[in-house]
Amino acid sequence: MRQELVNQFSEERMARVDAVIEEYGKVPGALLIVLEKIQDVTRHLPLDLQRYIAAKMEIPPSRVFGVATFYSYFSIAPRGRQVVKVCSGTACYVKRSAEILDRLRRRIGVEEGEVSPDGAFSIEEVRCLGACGLAPVVVIGDRTFGLIDPENAEEIIEKAEERP
Ligand code: FES
Repeated sequence: MRQELVNQFSEERMARVDAVIEEYGKVPGALLIVLEKIQDVTRHLPLDLQRYIAAKMEIPPSRVFGVATFYSYFSIAPRGRQVVKVCSGTACYVKRSAEILDRLRRRIGVEEGEVSPDGAFSIEEVRCLGACGLAPVVVIGDRTFGLIDPENAEEIIEKAEERP
C-alpha cells in the first residue's frame, strides 16, 4: 500500500506523512491534527491514504473517513496550490454567483474536483462564507474577494496569480 502512495505523492512526502503519524499517532484524540498535518503535505486525503493512516494508527478506516468527510477543511479530491471557493449561498446567488463560478471555471480551465495542469488552482462551490455583506464573495487561498463584478470575475484569478 505504501509503495502506491509513494508513486502518487513521492517518497519525500510519504516520509513526512510517516513522521506525523509517528509523532501524533498514539496521542489520544489526535486524529484531527494528524489529518490536518498530513493534508498540509499531500493537499488532499484520498481513500487509499486514509486506509494507510488508519492502519498505521491501528484504528478503523471508518473513523478516519468520518473525520475526513465531516469537516469541509478536508478534501478527498485533489486540490491545487490555491483553492478557489465560490460562495453559492443565497446572498451571493442573487448577485450572480453562478455566473462567476462559470467564468472562473473557464478561466482556470477546470471543473470541480480537477486541478489545473500547472497545479496552481482547483475550484469549489461552497455554502455561505459568512461575509454576506460583501456578496458576491470568492475566497482564494487565504484571501477574500468581495463585491465582485461578475463581468470582470476573471480579474481575481489574475490577482491570485501575481502572488508567488
Ligand atoms: S451567502 Fe455568500 S457569503 Fe453569505
